[in-house]
Amino acid sequence: MPHASLVVDRDFVVADLDRRIFGAFVEHMGRCVYTGIFEPGHPQADAQGFRQDVLDLTRELGPTIIRYPGGNFLSGYDWRDGVGPVEERAVRRDLAWFSTETNRFGTNEFMDWCHKAEIEPMFGVNLGTKGPDEARQFLEYCNHAGGSALSDLRRAHGWEKPHDVKFWCLGNEMDGPWQICHKTAAEYGRIALETAKVMRWVDPTVQLAACGSSHRNMPSFGAWEYEVLDHCFDEVDFISLHTYFRNDDDDMREYFGVIELMDTFIREVTAIADAIAAKRRSRKRIMLSFDEWNVWYRTHQIEHMRRPGWPEAPRLIEEVYNVEDALIVGGALITLMNNADRVKAACLAQLVNVIGPIMTEPGGPAWRQTIFHPFALAARHGHGRVMRTRVESPAYAAKSFPEIPYLLSCVVDNPVDGTTTIFAMNRHLSETLDLTAELRGLGTERRLVSAQEVHDLQLKTMNTRERPNAVVPRDLGDVRVEGERISARLKPGSWNVIVTQVPR
Ligand code: AHR
Repeated sequence: MPHASLVVDRDFVVADLDRRIFGAFVEHMGRCVYTGIFEPGHPQADAQGFRQDVLDLTRELGPTIIRYPGGNFLSGYDWRDGVGPVEERAVRRDLAWFSTETNRFGTNEFMDWCHKAEIEPMFGVNLGTKGPDEARQFLEYCNHAGGSALSDLRRAHGWEKPHDVKFWCLGNEMDGPWQICHKTAAEYGRIALETAKVMRWVDPTVQLAACGSSHRNMPSFGAWEYEVLDHCFDEVDFISLHTYFRNDDDDMREYFGVIELMDTFIREVTAIADAIAAKRRSRKRIMLSFDEWNVWYRTHQIEHMRRPGWPEAPRLIEEVYNVEDALIVGGALITLMNNADRVKAACLAQLVNVIGPIMTEPGGPAWRQTIFHPFALAARHGHGRVMRTRVESPAYAAKSFPEIPYLLSCVVDNPVDGTTTIFAMNRHLSETLDLTAELRGLGTERRLVSAQEVHDLQLKTMNTRERPNAVVPRDLGDVRVEGERISARLKPGSWNVIVTQVPR
């Protein structure tokens, strides 16, 4: 049996974990909003049309922040279409997804939904067809208490208190030729700077994220980040990263390499942001917002994205996930946590139906996809400070990445309640991995709280409407805790969470 070990020490900490890395994304795309979170007339809908079954599953999933309203949709969106009396709202053709947008759900409904779900909003401003002027007006509508035309308009619409939205994305994927009003880095960098400037004048408390690359494989990657930040470094707090993982060759050993590439991507963007800081002799550090990430490849063809006839809420990119995808999502979460010093926000894209951890049927049930489980476990147990981990593990070589250690792990220590959580994935597909972990200086009176695994020998197993619980977390047996030392056996192709605690 191969053996791997990890060691952490009380004094070696990466950073406090920003809980906003457990974010998700709701776009006006396909059935994410309509018949996803919002379905008036559904047996489980409340008076506002919010599906309670989806709200319950969202609470169980545990996202901390949700990006809204897009995505590519954002670049053609007029926020005014989505506020005011519903019966007066304009029906529009959305050029991002070639769909009909009824605007029955908009900013204020989303804010109400966030309150019910107890989730922070992350808003985007349209820098495709619109610009700085619309952005500052939208911010004033949302965040100004009252006494100006736009804040009073919000109050007249029935929302007396300001929404106080803190996190704002300056456009979406502006590097992508598919974007409505795509821009060059120079064009976007200038607009991002001017938009950020006026938004800060309206509300100095906001945090602003500039668009980075929509994928590491974009031909402009690197040069884009450099030029954009060269323009707007002084006015923004974050640069965004997007990535969608693919298993095109249907080869799990290769597929695991995408997680290493995610880590590489984070380091590269960090280096570029710091190069701009160095050029300016600035101590300011731009943080990373990984605000779109997930598995997405089966439904990536154009016919899954754009349907003829301008349909309302069509079934778009409704990827059905299997165990392989759950392992990749779990691995990505470990990578995000291990980069807690620079990644301060991240959004699993998306929340419901559209490449979502939650699936629904119109008028019917809602259920958890396989990827739901690692996310829910990470969001539940990822509290505290991420420890610097020294890992020793056998590794293998793949085309996707030259050296992939079988063990991928992360340790999060919570001094408040004395828990220390080990997230550990075994990337060996045929052998159990014998793991020992040494938690030095974190207390010897340690006891096991829980140990769970996401695992199925059949890597293609999926959760479906008919078999919604084919894949669920199960107890991981055979975990031993002896003082500072923990040992466990990680099944082949498994993602595991071991929670221990010292009395406080
Ligand atoms: O999440 C689906 C789409 O993927 C988003 O609209 C876009 O930003 C990205 O290309």
